[in-house]
Amino acid sequence: MANTREDYGIDAPTVVRNFIVIGVLLLVLSLGTTAALQLRLVGPNVATRIFQGNGLVGAIICLVMACWMIASSKWLKQRVCRALLNARQWRGDEQVLDLGCGRGLVAVAAARRVPRGKVIGVDIWQEVDLGGNSPDAIRANAAAAGVADRLQVDTGDARALPYSDASFDVVGSMTVIHNIPDAEGRRAAIAEAWRVTKPGGQLLIFDIRHARTYAKQLQAFGAEVKLNGPILLWGPAGWRFSAVKPG
Ligand SMILES: C[S@@+](CC[C@H](N)C(=O)[O-])C[C@H]1O[C@@H](n2cnc3c(N)ncnc32)[C@H](O)[C@@H]1O
Repeated sequence: MANTREDYGIDAPTVVRNFIVIGVLLLVLSLGTTAALQLRLVGPNVATRIFQGNGLVGAIICLVMACWMIASSKWLKQRVCRALLNARQWRGDEQVLDLGCGRGLVAVAAARRVPRGKVIGVDIWQEVDLGGNSPDAIRANAAAAGVADRLQVDTGDARALPYSDASFDVVGSMTVIHNIPDAEGRRAAIAEAWRVTKPGGQLLIFDIRHARTYAKQLQAFGAEVKLNGPILLWGPAGWRFSAVKPG
């Protein structure tokens, strides 16, 4: 049966899983040491004190981090996405690109704002960045949201986009470009986003790292940039910005 509910997945699922596994192990170690001390299976010494106290603190930190990352993916990210898209006065007929669309959080929200337009979601589908991201997952979310008729899904790398110059009125991207490991690659992705934006068009970008560097690069290209932040999501403090390309 087709999915009727939108599901935008969990970001960095391996990191979340590692926090949970390490947190549970430390909790077991700490509680086990406490029980062994009470049953006098071991005597108090430096090692048992370390296991008891530090184990519990470590467990709490890991489990809180896991909960924070899940809450960020499931709820907080939706709010940041709304704020990102609300930075534009939508006409309703725009051509939109969602760069690194994953399961379509930005693409589907943008498609709701462009009843007479079109949205393309492009991604390289790295599961390590977002659990279960695939063309089928974004299409299922678009169908659940009732916007499948105006969404196209492509496979492509942000550093070398498969689109002509000046193809889009809006290029959106959320928590994507920091996944490119080298500064040169991130600069190439921003340059590509700029290239495919029409004169008078707008880039709407949020990232948890490096966002102010992207904004500076776009300013150097001649963009009018409005920066908002810091925004706490996952661990690092992110920034979102709107960059308008001169018409
Ligand atoms: C953390 S997820 C965010 C997905 C979506 N934007 C969201 O906010 O839910 C990052 C996405 O960027 C994609 N990605 C990473 N590097 C990319 C690249 N060089 N080009 C295109 N997509 C990329 C990953 O495959 C993943 O789907």
